[in-house]
Amino acid sequence: MAEFEILAPKRERIGHGGMRVGFEDIDPRLDLVEEIVRLKREMNAVLLAHYYQDSEIQDIADYIGDSLELARRSQETGAEVIVFAGVHFMAETAKILNPKRQVLIPDMAAGCSLASGCPAPEFKRFREMHPDHLSITYINCSAEVKALSDIICTSSSAERIINQLPSDQKILFAPDRNLGRYLARKTGRDMLLWQGTCIVHETFSERKIVELRHRYPNALLIAHPECEESLLDRADYIGSTSALLKFTHESPATEFIVATESGIIHQMEKLSPGKTFIAGPPQEESCNCNNCPYMKLNTLEKIYLCMRNRAPEIDIPADVMEGSRRSLNRMLEMTK
Ligand code: 13P
Ligand code: SF4
Repeated sequence: MAEFEILAPKRERIGHGGMRVGFEDIDPRLDLVEEIVRLKREMNAVLLAHYYQDSEIQDIADYIGDSLELARRSQETGAEVIVFAGVHFMAETAKILNPKRQVLIPDMAAGCSLASGCPAPEFKRFREMHPDHLSITYINCSAEVKALSDIICTSSSAERIINQLPSDQKILFAPDRNLGRYLARKTGRDMLLWQGTCIVHETFSERKIVELRHRYPNALLIAHPECEESLLDRADYIGSTSALLKFTHESPATEFIVATESGIIHQMEKLSPGKTFIAGPPQEESCNCNNCPYMKLNTLEKIYLCMRNRAPEIDIPADVMEGSRRSLNRMLEMTK
């Protein structure tokens, strides 16, 4: 399988230069949950949250979902304002699909290592080097990269999209090399891969997961396809965030080792109260690396402030909006 040399994302890049939130600006007597509910009503706003958000955010959201479900939800709502508790590329997607609605994000610094590891100028060069390749691009990228892509996909829609393409169509896949490799194996297609990774999914320790399997011999190992190939080879089930959630509910098994961001365990426990979910351990004991540091930048305080201040707001230049909507709509059409 062909591969392309590109910057490896680094954990150190996270969390700097974001919105400086003045929490001192919040009256400490306020009940933030009540305030958010009140503002939602007054502003005609909907609160969308990804499964990787803290439990307290998931519990007040109008809709929780994976990236494909949230993109669809954003279009179905009648609300004037979308408050997106997720990461920047997800809020951008909501804006691209809903140009007339205001889209607010609690913290502008909530990025994604896959998106930052695939800058638009480099991606443009990559495409120019392979003009005969169609670009299937994972939704975890910037609006500019979406505008340079042919078809967008998510982890839950990628296989279906690739299988609809003519068998002689050359494909390049960006930015996640683990998901790309997994899809190439599943679909039997040779794909040119951009070498990006997710800082969360690449840090699960295979050795510690093997230890956990000895400790919980009846537990099934379930993993997101952004994990490394060696871990995926050991998994009993591989799927997108919502596919993992569904699997744990429908499976007769009662114990699961979960190799994806730990936020999803909240919904797994709610959906299957009698079952046991063991978070997949990262490589270093001291690190909290099965939490996405970008997703976890969002807090109730920041949700309240972004609604009260109507900022930060997602704003995308018109030409980028048009190009990115084209590639996103292809995904939505191909997965109806
Ligand atoms: P999902 O498409 O499964 O929601 O994944 C998004 C993501 O960022 C995974 O790390
Ligand atoms: Fe990006 Fe990984 Fe966080 Fe998902 S978990 S938003 S892929 S950094």
